[in-house]
Amino acid sequence: MSRTCRIPSSVFLASAVGALAAILAFSSPQDAFGGVASRVEPDVAHFDGTQVVGPGECAECHEPETAVWLGSAHVSGGKVLTRSDEAKAIASALGVRRIKSDERCASCHFTLQAQEDGRFKAVSEVSCESCHGGAAGWVELHNDFGGTDSTAESETPEHRADRMRLCDEAGMHRPTEFVSLATRCYACHLISDSELVAAGHPIEDGLEFLAGSQGSVRHNFVRGAGVNAPASTEQRRVMFVAGQAVRLEMALRGLARDPGQGECADSLKAAVEAARGVLAAVAERSELPTVAAMLEASDLGPDAVAPALLHAADVVRKAALEFEHGQDGTGLAAIDPLLPIASDS
Ligand code: HEC
Ligand code: HEC
Ligand code: HEC
Ligand code: HEC
Repeated sequence: MSRTCRIPSSVFLASAVGALAAILAFSSPQDAFGGVASRVEPDVAHFDGTQVVGPGECAECHEPETAVWLGSAHVSGGKVLTRSDEAKAIASALGVRRIKSDERCASCHFTLQAQEDGRFKAVSEVSCESCHGGAAGWVELHNDFGGTDSTAESETPEHRADRMRLCDEAGMHRPTEFVSLATRCYACHLISDSELVAAGHPIEDGLEFLAGSQGSVRHNFVRGAGVNAPASTEQRRVMFVAGQAVRLEMALRGLARDPGQGECADSLKAAVEAARGVLAAVAERSELPTVAAMLEASDLGPDAVAPALLHAADVVRKAALEFEHGQDGTGLAAIDPLLPIASDS
């Protein structure tokens, strides 16, 4: 298996070594703990800690991506979390003794990796694999263009199709798989645990997938040939609709899982209505049977019970995948006024 990598400049090496040091400095041996690394439905958004290799394995070849990631809130927030009084108060209300060692917090604030004894350990703050999927099964595949001398340019279309399929099967959330990527985002960013909220955890429904993945999170150096390129206008349209569909789906699943009364349920219901509102505006501007199907399935009223909510979530997901795979965004200019950010940011 070839481990191709662009030849590093000395700047590259210096910062890659710095990045690696920062990553290595993260782990400490006492972090081992038992627990399941997912707080969402296993079939849709399970995060598999047995597949995690850790961000140090990516830094070698993805230096600019690693530098952006290290500068993002996903890292800086995790670094200060365990010392924050707000975090300590939430943790103590729930009987959590160590924030980094308890999946109750670490499943969203850190990257959990299964250890040989079957327990999980935080190997990083929120990191590459939190979004792209645990990489054990695909890290050696995703950059294999068909042998030692092959490059992305010389790869045959058949080999490329096989590579994508194998990576998908191995659990990679590739950059164009917006539904799977957005599922990862909302698995953390839509809080659906009423006990957590009652303990004082901030309710978050602020994330919009398109806007949130650009800005300080964006790291599109491959397509930008070394420059951090924004997503294209066409791609933004697809990301926007796919993101709202997943927000709707995940809010429905959250309500099915924890239908309790109070702030948490209210915020999930508000997320359902907000996403439906956006999708309705999309439907008004464009003829999209998939979006119409999402709206129809999720038209449930405030007292819907779990089986109905889950059924609606399944229909929304199926329609979202169908939308994404049949769309290159060129025919969707009519929805541009709805998009949260200008195309050059
Ligand atoms: C040995 C080098 C190497 C390692 C290690 C590596 N990558 Fe890559 N990665 C590449 C190359 C080369 C590409 C393709 C770039 C291209 O198409 O020009 C790539 C592409 C990607 C893509 C984009 C795929 C696509 O379909 O557009 C993602 C996402 C990615 N890598 C994530 C990771 C993550 C996460 C890790 C660590 C778990 C990692 N990579 C480790 C070399 C590597
Ligand atoms: C494993 C959980 C997890 C995943 C997956 C995740 N995030 Fe986050 N994200 C967080 C946490 C936790 C924070 C808060 C960091 C802090 O300040 O402590 C955060 C912060 C952010 C912020 C900064 C918010 C601010 O107000 O400054 C943005 C933007 C963001 N995430 C976007 C995304 C996007 C887009 C995705 C998916 C492509 C994503 N996140 C996936 C957990 C996650
Ligand atoms: C379902 C995912 C999830 C779980 C579980 C979770 N958090 Fe969070 N938490 C988040 C996200 C996402 C944010 C960012 C909210 C924002 O930026 O608006 C956040 C924000 C916070 C903040 C506000 C400061 C900051 O970093 O932005 C604190 C404090 C916090 N979490 C503590 C905890 C503690 C303690 C636990 C465990 C008892 C926990 N969280 C469990 C997802 C989660
Ligand atoms: C918060 C979630 C998140 C994290 C963390 C994250 N990525 Fe990504 N990544 C994405 C999203 C979303 C895209 C597609 C963005 C777009 O199209 O604008 C992407 C795109 C990519 C691409 C393709 C870029 C291109 O030019 O086409 C590569 C390569 C990549 N990521 C590698 C990494 C590596 C390596 C890390 C860790 C150092 C990482 N990612 C961390 C969500 C994330």
